[in-house]
Amino acid sequence: MKEQQFKFEYEVYNDISELNKQDADLLAKARTVTKNAYAPYSNFYVGAAARLENNEIISGTNQENASYPVGICAERVLLGNAATLHPGIPIDTIAISYDSKEVKSDHPISPCGMCRQSLLEYETRTDKPIRLILSGQEGKIYIIKTVKFLLPFAFTSDELI
Ligand code: THU
Repeated sequence: MKEQQFKFEYEVYNDISELNKQDADLLAKARTVTKNAYAPYSNFYVGAAARLENNEIISGTNQENASYPVGICAERVLLGNAATLHPGIPIDTIAISYDSKEVKSDHPISPCGMCRQSLLEYETRTDKPIRLILSGQEGKIYIIKTVKFLLPFAFTSDELI
């Protein structure tokens, strides 16, 4: 028997003023685009903004539905927008933020399991690590270098061929 470890490093910033301008602008966009979320059931408004390799900025927000499981997360809306509007262009960085009527938006959230799976496949198909910037409307910011760190032991298309 041999024990193995999965470890990863991530950066922690105290607030947006510590980020470089490119990252700060992207996080500001993720924070404001939460206003376009359609979340009348959870009142939890998520915004995701991506900077593509060609410096285009695109965004996505969660879109809920009266039939609850039909709702889609901000991250997967964003990936669909990226693939449709800018096919083949890798994503460099995604910022994710949220707002809520129920809870304070003062700490980072991270993508749900289903979104991690989707993000990982986007990273793989474009052959470029996607950086993640995670933060609420205020407070600490986490920066993670690649989606791979968030999904150890991932199931991938390698198993299918
Ligand atoms: N949600 C996202 O859009 N992204 C996440 O990373 C976590 C959760 C959405 C789904 C649902 O509309 C609401 O937030 C509450 O779960």
